[in-house]
Order: sequence, then C-alpha cells, then structure tokens
Amino acid sequence: MKRKKSKIVVLSGAGISAESGLGTFRDKGGLWDKHDINDVATPEAWRKNPELVLEFYNMRRELVLEAKPNQAHSALVRLERYFDVQIITQNIDDLHERAGSKNILHLHGEILFAQSILNTEKVYPVKGSRIELGDLAPDGGQLRPHVVWFGEAVPKMIDAEQIMKEADILIVVGTSLNVYPAANLVYACPPHAEKYIVDLNELSTAKQKNLHHLKGKASEKLPELVDQLIQESKN
Ligand code: OAD
Repeated sequence: MKRKKSKIVVLSGAGISAESGLGTFRDKGGLWDKHDINDVATPEAWRKNPELVLEFYNMRRELVLEAKPNQAHSALVRLERYFDVQIITQNIDDLHERAGSKNILHLHGEILFAQSILNTEKVYPVKGSRIELGDLAPDGGQLRPHVVWFGEAVPKMIDAEQIMKEADILIVVGTSLNVYPAANLVYACPPHAEKYIVDLNELSTAKQKNLHHLKGKASEKLPELVDQLIQESKN
C-alpha cells in the first residue's frame, strides 16, 4: 500500500520574487517607500484618482510580464514529487504558475486579471499589459485590477485557513508577516507541524509566531530546505 504523502503548505510573499527583479514592499527602497498606499491601493484612492491607480498597477504588470521565476520558485515545484504541496501566496505575480507549481491560492489577487467594478466575483484576463480608463467588462462596469486593496475583504481567507489546518509542514518564505489577516494564517497551522521561515532578514514576527528561521536569500535557502525535506522523506 502506498503511504499518504505529507502535506506541505507554503506561505509566500514578495521576498520570493525579489531575485526575479520584482521589488518588495517594506524593505528599504521598497514599493511603499516610493508610493503612498493611500494614493494607489485603497478603494478611496480609486474613487479619488482611478487613472493614477490604474497606472500604478499597469507599471507593476509590465514588470511582472518581464520577470522570470527564480530558483526559489523552481525548488517548490520539485517538492511536488514527494509531498502534497499547496502554495498560499500573497503575491499578485504569476511566477509560481510559470515555474510549474500546481496548487496555488492567490490571497491578494492576480495582477494579470481584471474585475468589473460592478461585480468582484468575475475575473477577466488583462489583454496586453494595461487596463485603461474606459476599458469595460461585459457587464458595462469599468475594469479594475483583480487585486485586494487595503480596506477590502480578503475572500480567499476561509479557503486558506482550511488549507493551513491540514499542514504537516509549513514553509513561510519572503514575507515580513506584517499584513493582516494573511499573517494570522500561521496560527491556523496545527501545533505539531514543523514550521520554517526563509527570509533574508531577522524578523521579530518570526519569533513571535514560533517559526524556525533560515536566514538568507530565498534562491539559496529554499532549495537547501527542499533538498533536506526530500532526503528526510526517503529515510
Ligand atoms: P514585505 O515587503 O512586507 O516583506 C518582504 C520580506 O521579504 C521581508 O521580510 C524581507 O526581509 C524578505 N526578503 C527580501 N528579499 C529577499 C530574498 N531575496 N530572499 C528572502 N527574503 C527576502 O512583503 P510581503 O510580506 O509579501 O499586499 O507583503 C505583504 C503584503 O503587503 C503584500 O501582499 C501586499 C503588501 O501591501 C497588498 O497589496 C494587499
């Protein structure tokens, strides 16, 4: 009889895509150093200046389309041969998909998709790299990026919590764990699960959440951890 594969849940953040050339948010020189959240990433910002909001995400979409997955994304694909792997990402890029991972839940949306302002449930692939003012969904509503803004609900949280509850091993990678409710997901993970965090920097949030810190670049530390877990699964 075949043994049931252990379940690995990965919670990823901007740091996993940093070495693909996509900037993080809260590091020095990060996106929130250069832009005020209130101008570009809230429903109020959209009401006040939709053109500026669209431009902010058009710029980020263009960068995502130019970026390529790195060795951290690829390492997670290798895990799938040995484990039941589920990725929960706060990232709106598609680098996990392009690396070849199968089970990916985007907690904060996906920049390559748009939604109508009249209906948040239906999403449409963005044609080309830009959404302009005047681009309409089939229901007649203005298209906006399919991303969760500050102050909006995070509809995928319930599914993400359910996934977390089944984790045997948790790998957190490249997130400051500063944004809620996403950061609370760590607490949904069973107490007996092994819990790792791969991050370049020392994080007080990692200590608070009882995560074993592997300090260094995601492109180096994550493949090392993946190799170790694969080796252990064979013993
Ligand atoms: P942050 O910018 O808050 O955190 C990025 C983390 O990645 C930091 O802890 C860095 O130390 C780490 N890091 C940077 N480069 C790294 C590398 N090469 N290897 C490993 N770690 C590295 O980004 P997130 O935690 O993802 O939400 O941010 C969470 C949410 O805040 C985002 O999803 C976004 C943002 O506002 C929304 O826009 C709703």
